[in-house]
Amino acid sequence: MVSRVIPVEDFDLVIFGGTGDLARRKILPGLFRRFLSGQMPKTSRVIGAARSDINTDGYRQMIRDAIAEFGGAEKENTAGIEAFVGQLHYVTVDAKGDGGWAELHDLIRFEVVNAFYFSVAPSLFGDLAERLHTYEIADADSRVVVEKPFGRDLASAQALNETLAEHFKESQVYRIDHYLGKETVQNLMAVRFGNMLFEPLWNNHYVDHIEITVAETVGVGGRGAYYDKSGAMRDMVQNHLMQLLCLIAMEAPSEFESDAVRDEKLKVIRALQPVEPHHIVRGQYDAAGDEPSYREDAGDPRSFTESFIAMRCEIANWRWAGVPFYLRTGKKMKARTSEISVVFKDLGHSIFPGDEKRHRNILSIQLQPNEGMQLQVTIKEPGQGGMRLVDVPLDMTFADALGPDAEGAADAYERLIMDVIRGNQTLFMRGDEVEAAWAWTDPIIEGWQARNDVPKLYDQGSSGPDDAMALMHREDRKWRDIKG
Ligand code: BG6
Repeated sequence: MVSRVIPVEDFDLVIFGGTGDLARRKILPGLFRRFLSGQMPKTSRVIGAARSDINTDGYRQMIRDAIAEFGGAEKENTAGIEAFVGQLHYVTVDAKGDGGWAELHDLIRFEVVNAFYFSVAPSLFGDLAERLHTYEIADADSRVVVEKPFGRDLASAQALNETLAEHFKESQVYRIDHYLGKETVQNLMAVRFGNMLFEPLWNNHYVDHIEITVAETVGVGGRGAYYDKSGAMRDMVQNHLMQLLCLIAMEAPSEFESDAVRDEKLKVIRALQPVEPHHIVRGQYDAAGDEPSYREDAGDPRSFTESFIAMRCEIANWRWAGVPFYLRTGKKMKARTSEISVVFKDLGHSIFPGDEKRHRNILSIQLQPNEGMQLQVTIKEPGQGGMRLVDVPLDMTFADALGPDAEGAADAYERLIMDVIRGNQTLFMRGDEVEAAWAWTDPIIEGWQARNDVPKLYDQGSSGPDDAMALMHREDRKWRDIKG
């Protein structure tokens, strides 16, 4: 199936931190793919802005190298690369001084869409926003894109929101959570709100529990210093897992429009109950042979930061009262997988003699590595005499069903950047959403600090500490196996 590529409006995108890791690894290779697919207009420009004293030629070479290192099959397209880098520019800018701002002003075309990507430490947001206005570079139509971490608690997130609000309206601010740009995450909404089949069952009458697992095989080596100040709770749960939870649990918005969707997500976060300490298991990966432990990776032999977390949450509203939501995420796990499973209740009574096994319908939605959905259904075991029942998955792996196409293969970042240019905020977090998520997270983290909570060690390549298993076992439930 070939997707229809609709070019976006002409734009100038300025990336502050344009020489940084995110720009080279994700943003520019992603834009290159959009350029090749015909979505990025041939007149649009990307302007790298950073402290480094390189010029436009130097920047173009840097991005050629970045595409060679981080690009996919498209990195063989040398003619395409040359055409793309011809649309790149570079300005040396001093975020805290006057250097480069007048030059940036002269470079920008004000008659096209202007977007400013703050791929820098949050402590610089205020300086950048202020100078964009002092030098009359940004106006009431400009868009500003900011990255996580958006604060490290409610107070710091509020301060960041206030800083941005001094210079930009909420409708100009695009807070990225790259999980919202993943194809299957958007598919979650399509599945829920585009089918008659699921909605009548999507509540506490029919759903036993919901599980969200985001497991990674990588450790924190290389970014240990950052990670050790965050831990899995701030790095993954407060944002990515919370967003998945919202999309699974929210009511249908009246239309697929940014504020309508975000209003519904916000209601879910506000209905989340405080989590009891015994409903949370924190873990840290242990050393394994030559593989360093979490503490070695973090560079702190006494670190109490968690690289794994499993928790049981509840949403206090009519739809979900009494349905546990089990969340789990960790580094150095046995496989890389992100999966959401909706486990339906038992039938309650079987009409088939001798059938004592518990049969449950499970809808599982895989975000990565293989995007798809399976619905576990119970059928008669083929070829057997009598009525022997067996559970089988109705499988829909999207690549099999739809074939690889340009849109499906797109990385989350490129999809989200195109949405910024289109002016569509649906897949971006609103300020009040981020604050509500921190308001729920803060007491949990404060509780650990007050109790000097020590994470449990777990083996690399495992499913996390044994206590995480017990979290579900003691309620006669079981985590799904972590399979890549
Ligand atoms: C980032 C986290 O936001 O998401 C990382 O900071 C994590 O720690 C990453 O590895 C996971 O993203 P993905 O797209 O690889 O699942």
